[in-house]
Amino acid sequence: MESVTIYNKIISSDVLVGIISRIKEKKELVHLDEKVCLRYIITYFMQHGKALAKFSEAKDFSSIQRSKEVDELIKAVREEVRLVYGLYQTEDISKIDHLLDKLEKDFKNKSIERTKDDHDRILRLNRSTSERLEFYEKFFSDIFAITDKPISIIDLACGLNPMAWPYYQLRNVRYTACELNEQDVQHLQRYFDIIKPYTGIQGKAVKLDLTKDSLDGFTADVCFLLKVLDLLDASVAERIITSLRCRWIVASFPTKTITEQAMRFKRRAGFQKMLRRLGLKYQTLTYENELVYIITKETL
Ligand SMILES: C[S@@+](CC[C@H](N)C(=O)[O-])C[C@H]1O[C@@H](n2cnc3c(N)ncnc32)[C@H](O)[C@@H]1O
Repeated sequence: MESVTIYNKIISSDVLVGIISRIKEKKELVHLDEKVCLRYIITYFMQHGKALAKFSEAKDFSSIQRSKEVDELIKAVREEVRLVYGLYQTEDISKIDHLLDKLEKDFKNKSIERTKDDHDRILRLNRSTSERLEFYEKFFSDIFAITDKPISIIDLACGLNPMAWPYYQLRNVRYTACELNEQDVQHLQRYFDIIKPYTGIQGKAVKLDLTKDSLDGFTADVCFLLKVLDLLDASVAERIITSLRCRWIVASFPTKTITEQAMRFKRRAGFQKMLRRLGLKYQTLTYENELVYIITKETL
């Protein structure tokens, strides 16, 4: 990692590496992309002049690691990244096996429509899906009004989003759900197996790291990239957008954050600029806490 210069002050590589490894000590943040983490650290320094001065004077991380300023910085940056990254799962995620058991049992007596309560209980276990519960139905009907009803979907960094299936109002779809988190992958495959006889869904859950794994061979009508691009470096986002073979990419960003508004606007502006540079047309949809880009990709 290189040192960085902020307002003419240099933060050494050793200090940055020390800060990042402390931030990533938390179990839920071990997969955090270092470049993404660095962006949050830089934003913090831009807003905290005293910390910037102190850290730029430090020769190495060990000389400041026990200071109040390090603790404050680590706490603030962890809170920020958790908003979009770490705490996407609520404390209750351990209940998922039990809720899937219940869903499996209820499906035997009920239609998919009548299992909505079971589904909602599961969707509440994850921050992103829980926030969408207020508008899930409209969300998919708005999206599919633009893209037409897809017969194949890829959902990248999907979290529990595929488990919102009753809200999609689709049948007989090929659904590929990709997630970094191994536990989610197992739960997603179990979910697909439960609902298959009643929905005709051909669901496959795949463990995939968007920062490393290739997307060759993935084709679909619609590809979802919901609330994930903020977590990835811009070059990784561009590689994904260009390599995906699909008619439509549906990418979204969270719009509610506490301290990071300016940076987010810059990121979205950067994202739109990238789409224009790649010659990709897009429309947007806005929800209470989510901004959605519907990008026309290619005719398969
Ligand atoms: C904010 S959640 C969004 C989940 C889902 N897309 C939604 O909107 O409901 C971000 C998701 O990205 C996943 N993720 C983070 N980094 C990833 C990576 N490098 N590759 C694949 N998935 C990743 C996380 O595990 C998490 O499930």
